[in-house]
Amino acid sequence: MANVSIEIYERMLDHIRAGTTDLADTMLAVPAAHFSSEAHAAHERALFRRQPLVVACASELPEPGSFVTRTVMGTALLVVRQADGRVEVFLNMCRHRGGKVEMAETGRKRFFVCGYHGWSYEREGGLRGIPFEASYGAIDRACTSLIKVASEERHGLIWVDLSSRDGIDLAGFLGAEADRELATFGIGDMEILFERRYDIPANWKLVMDGAYDVLHPQFLHPTGVGKLVESNVGVWKDYGRHGQLFTARRRLAEIVRSGASPEVAWRYFASVLVLYPNALVIPAPDHYEFWTVWPSMTSPSECHVHIRFLLRPETATEEVKARVGRSLAILEEAAINEDWPMEETIQANAGTSPEVDFLYGRSEVSCQHLHHQLRRDLAGLDV
Ligand code: FES
Ligand SMILES: [Fe+2]
Repeated sequence: MANVSIEIYERMLDHIRAGTTDLADTMLAVPAAHFSSEAHAAHERALFRRQPLVVACASELPEPGSFVTRTVMGTALLVVRQADGRVEVFLNMCRHRGGKVEMAETGRKRFFVCGYHGWSYEREGGLRGIPFEASYGAIDRACTSLIKVASEERHGLIWVDLSSRDGIDLAGFLGAEADRELATFGIGDMEILFERRYDIPANWKLVMDGAYDVLHPQFLHPTGVGKLVESNVGVWKDYGRHGQLFTARRRLAEIVRSGASPEVAWRYFASVLVLYPNALVIPAPDHYEFWTVWPSMTSPSECHVHIRFLLRPETATEEVKARVGRSLAILEEAAINEDWPMEETIQANAGTSPEVDFLYGRSEVSCQHLHHQLRRDLAGLDV
């Protein structure tokens, strides 16, 4: 379970007493075109294809031979647990004439057989058999293994780097602080209880913005989340590329304003760990939400959201599962009926008025962070 440190607790109490929130140094203007321009979206896609991205939870691959197939930024991948417990990621592409070697989304296999002409591959990726081999001509088996993509399993999540065939320095990518926070979550010991996928007609950054926007709950969710979470009070921990937002439950604010000193307790807080560029971990008392938000490969105006609800299997009583089910219903209610429809209006406006700037105030430090980091990375991108 995530911890609320004394530092976070005291910063939050100070903000509640003073009516303040963490501030960025300056306001940030982001061109609306960054949400609607085809050229900008193409740059972002190139960026995504050159850095670590989470493709699966480790628990989706529980034993040797367990696999999942995923299409990540247009590339078909086959993610396989090996006999020694490691995970390997391959291009899901037959070395004969390029068919997918595995069509199922998930399963467990000893080897993989391409459905087109029957070439088969070991789970380690090596070519296993070729029907009618004698009539093909000379085939160099050393050069016909499935093609590996660099991957690393860390803290219960599996990352790939589509640009690399070698390793990933994931500890370096995460940095000491995000690495430490993620380690405390224990995601490796959790299983997926619910999983939902949504296609949203809005740019991926708008969905990210909405997921850690401290300013909006009381306005956009007046009868739901806005009643539970205090708007415009946040503590932002900057972890370099990544970061973590803490917000206060209304109950905490009420106790503080009454003059009492509440104990340091997780139940008074909500938080989001933002794993740049497109993943979020949201701890809750019973479960964790894990989000990945994927840019569309064809349009700046669309994205794909994948949300998993993770739970420790030993805590999964019927009562807890029912509670987590209610959390999913509350999330869907807010996201589907309130957040995403608002983001769709922004998308439409960005499309018709790309010359305007959208403003991110100093108080919107959590939302500013993604745009600053993208600006830095896109400036250094050689495409
Ligand atoms: S394309 Fe896979 S066996 Fe021919
Ligand atoms: Fe929201």
